[in-house]
Amino acid sequence: MVLDNLCRGRAEYLDPVRETSPGRIHFSNVDLSDRDATTAAFAAAAQIGVIDEVWHLAANSDIPAGVMDAGVDLRDTFMTTFSLLECMKAHRVGVLHFASSSAIYGDLGNVPLHEAIGPLLPISNYGAMKLASEALIAAAAESFLKQANLFRFPNVVGAPATHGVILDFINKLKVDADHLDVLGDGTQQKAYLHVSDLVDAMMHIRRAAQLPKIFPINIGPVDDGVTVRFIAHAVTARVRPKADIRFGIGNKGWIGDVPKFYYSVERLRQAGWTPSRNSADAVCHAIDQIATQEGFAAGGSHG
Ligand SMILES: NC(=O)c1ccc[n+]([C@@H]2O[C@H](COP(=O)([O-])OP(=O)(O)OC[C@H]3O[C@@H](n4cnc5c(N)ncnc54)[C@H](O)[C@@H]3O)[C@@H](O)[C@H]2O)c1
Repeated sequence: MVLDNLCRGRAEYLDPVRETSPGRIHFSNVDLSDRDATTAAFAAAAQIGVIDEVWHLAANSDIPAGVMDAGVDLRDTFMTTFSLLECMKAHRVGVLHFASSSAIYGDLGNVPLHEAIGPLLPISNYGAMKLASEALIAAAAESFLKQANLFRFPNVVGAPATHGVILDFINKLKVDADHLDVLGDGTQQKAYLHVSDLVDAMMHIRRAAQLPKIFPINIGPVDDGVTVRFIAHAVTARVRPKADIRFGIGNKGWIGDVPKFYYSVERLRQAGWTPSRNSADAVCHAIDQIATQEGFAAGGSHG
């Protein structure tokens, strides 16, 4: 059963799964921040079969929107976690996989971000509500959860894309084919993981035996990432090779943007998983996929 209010996702994203597993996917349009609606959706899911585990991926994914209006992340990033935990408790569902984020760490500069570091002081409401969700999940593990995997994603890229720097650049180049205006000076440097590797890593951890009951784990590539400048050049080369790139000022794209972070993936390595693509490969592959999604044939023509 897939629950989503489609504020950003689209029901047709499930079509490939429907084709490979006919009749096995049920979709319900539900606002997961609404406890009554989530309760009704769980009751409907329980009619279909036993609920063994929950994968909680719903959240606000527009970090600047959450900085402008703190209510956005309270509702979509935190209250979704609250409602789901209440329903899991009522239905005695003991296993939760949670999409957390590197944003919980805040801006720690050159300090490698590993799972045991603290204090955690996020710099966006999004990061704050992800951290608050982790805290609520930890408390639930004390009373009814049997296993909670807190997957801390880096920047994830791939298709279908609903948001993110690559889609933003492509959309800008659709409007103005001659110029690409970049937020910040382009030196922001982050680790990028392709969504196919992300799914593979989470399934690897899910299969692992004898994990701690609450298991925070960074998921990311083994490298230090690529800059926004690299992405701007690669997107332009793919969709508008003649466009002029104009960089802004300062090393932050927006309030709440962490300009650089170094992600420790030692715990993931010890769990026996390594990615198939590094940050640069993941970004270039995703650029090609998202350009195709947005109607750019190879070579830069827009159909
Ligand atoms: N993409 C990244 O780089 C990244 C990085 C760190 C963490 N994450 C986390 O991974 C998860 C998936 O992110 P994504 O990048 O695919 O973003 P996305 O916006 O494409 O997916 C989030 C989904 O949640 C749904 N949603 C939002 N509020 C909801 C609500 N109140 N009720 C029901 N559904 C709701 C949206 O419609 C959307 O389909 C999110 O939890 C996000 O915070 C993503």
